[in-house]
Amino acid sequence: MTELSETPVLSQRAVYADMFRFQHTMNIAHHDEVKIMRSRSRLYALILSVRGPAQLAKLYPYLQDRLERFLDEELYPAQVLADGSVCVSLAETCRVMASRLMAMMFFGEELTADPAFSKAVYNHPQQTVRCMALFQLVPRVMTPLVNALITHRGAAMKLILNRITPVIDSETTNWTEPTGLKELTLLDIFIKETQSTRDYWTAETLTRALMGLLLAASHQPWVNLYIFIYRLCASPEWQDILREEIAAAQPLDYDRLDHLPLLDSFMRETARLVSLDKLNIRRKALQDYTFAGGSPHVPIGATVCVSSYNVSHNASTYPDPETFDGRRFVDGNHQDSTHRYSDISEQYLIWGYGSLACPGRFHATLVLKLAMVNFLTRYQMRLADSKMRSHWMYEAFSMPYESTKVILTPRAVVRSKP
Ligand code: HEM
Repeated sequence: MTELSETPVLSQRAVYADMFRFQHTMNIAHHDEVKIMRSRSRLYALILSVRGPAQLAKLYPYLQDRLERFLDEELYPAQVLADGSVCVSLAETCRVMASRLMAMMFFGEELTADPAFSKAVYNHPQQTVRCMALFQLVPRVMTPLVNALITHRGAAMKLILNRITPVIDSETTNWTEPTGLKELTLLDIFIKETQSTRDYWTAETLTRALMGLLLAASHQPWVNLYIFIYRLCASPEWQDILREEIAAAQPLDYDRLDHLPLLDSFMRETARLVSLDKLNIRRKALQDYTFAGGSPHVPIGATVCVSSYNVSHNASTYPDPETFDGRRFVDGNHQDSTHRYSDISEQYLIWGYGSLACPGRFHATLVLKLAMVNFLTRYQMRLADSKMRSHWMYEAFSMPYESTKVILTPRAVVRSKP
């Protein structure tokens, strides 16, 4: 696994460049793709996984505040029931909520308070993923046309670029985002980190790099949140178990939130059973390559994948692997040396593996834990249709059903029932 992850001629970036046809979606010339993405990946890793964790405790109150505002003002019920419960689309709710929280992390309060900007931040990654799906179906020559149609000629990217360019050009001095959150945003951190190399890191290059990062940060969190909430509905006893743990950890500051063993175990076990991609590690051979043991041989242009699905369903690591056991990582019912949701291990590949493993995993974990705690403390949750299945498969991807509806009953209503 280490050889697969770390060998430079087996490239993670080349897989993404092919999948998203970056020369059109991110406007990167083909011959520069791999080189540029390598330097961007180094920057992402430095900012997110090396410096990032120290920022998260400070970001926590801003994210909590934004989440409360989302739930109070932006949750769009499909239907309001007589007892005050609301029926919402689970996929749409998770997608918008994750987008609002990521937007705060990336761009702060002032830029995202503008609905047009916020909409563009939501639209851009969704459109890129839609393009990716269509690119698999149409000949390469049609890529620019498909891209122009789906993205409305890059309208979201243009709007974001327009708003961010003056901030970058002034090295943030004309940005009126109040201090406090400003220094914690990825926009501010990226600008400072690249200041000495502004000839290369122009406003456009920096914005496109940030949007590339936003793409990585957009899809996985909402799909994971969808799967978690679906599981809470399918195993409702877990709603009470987790509420009890949360109640015992008050006041819930960042440190306590980060150390809720049952919540962590529930999330890891749910992710073990269903993850967005069954093949979380994919590397494309930039030249012919034979593994050190003499096999396998990978011809140039071929992609090698690791089945994270098989790894996480291996009975010798996870006894009774098809059964959901929410306490598995608290009770030690596994043979892996790690047990936390954000851990990386050869036996748990939801974040990938090695030096290219997801650098945003601590940010993602904070957002997901916050979302879980807020849903659990506010609502009793159940599926509108108890027979509704959680997802369908598109190639190796688990796709949430857009039609899944969840009924959220405010807990004050639940408590006041006789
Ligand atoms: C539940 C949420 C998430 C999951 C499950 C996830 C999973 C993954 C996986 C499997 C990879 C590929 C690793 C490999 O090839 O070894 C990856 C790469 C990456 N992820 Fe995540 N991710 C999540 C959220 C995020 C967030 C929130 C960010 C940013 C804030 C982020 C940034 C990245 C980046 C930058 C890469 C590498 C791509 C590159 O270097 O260009 N991810 N992620």
